[in-house]
Amino acid sequence: MITIALSKGRIFTETMPILNQLDIFCKEDPETSRKLVFETNKKNIRLIIVRASDVPTYVEWGGADMGIAGRDVLDEFQGEGLFQPIDLGIGKCQLMVAAKKVFDYEACIKQKRRLRVATKYPQAAREFFANKGIHIDVIKLYGSMELAPIVGMSDVIVDLVSSGKTLEANNLIALEKISDISSRLIINQASLKIKRAQLKPLIENFSKVVK
Ligand code: PRP
Repeated sequence: MITIALSKGRIFTETMPILNQLDIFCKEDPETSRKLVFETNKKNIRLIIVRASDVPTYVEWGGADMGIAGRDVLDEFQGEGLFQPIDLGIGKCQLMVAAKKVFDYEACIKQKRRLRVATKYPQAAREFFANKGIHIDVIKLYGSMELAPIVGMSDVIVDLVSSGKTLEANNLIALEKISDISSRLIINQASLKIKRAQLKPLIENFSKVVK
């Protein structure tokens, strides 16, 4: 049995067409179901639905043999033992620094002022500002980062920007790009050895479809 870990939302809607091209179809629609394990038309392949940030953990600990996770999540992940063979080119967006329109970010950077940064991505934020020689206080959040500068809790946020609509709706502007994000196929190292006969063709097919 091959278990594939996926998360609902942005990445999921772009993953299903890829799975379908690999002739993998789900018997039920995971988007509308509250189930967490889904059989597919392939007897030896099942899907599990987990939180986006938990996908690497499930794959690292063997709860899933493979998964699809964004670079944002993978960069924050502290674990080891993940084989990341393919950039699927899906879930594309950018990790950005953003703030209220009135916030003078340029002056802060020039004067190397200490910044309060609200984010779900502390590693990426720390690394980015450390490279600029800026000291930061990280306020770790799990969602709705846009709220932090509005209520005066942080100077800036570090968050994903896709269409830019969320920033716009909250009167924030993107100031600087930290990185381009897309999603990768990730594989459990032990599975790769033990289930090689099943996994190798699957990985090759992913690679073909993506190309
Ligand atoms: C992400 C991100 C922004 C939004 C950006 O949130 O955190 O809030 O998408 O997209 P946009 O530029 O197209 O408006 P997501 O929906 O992944 O949920 P989250 O708040 O749990 O991170």
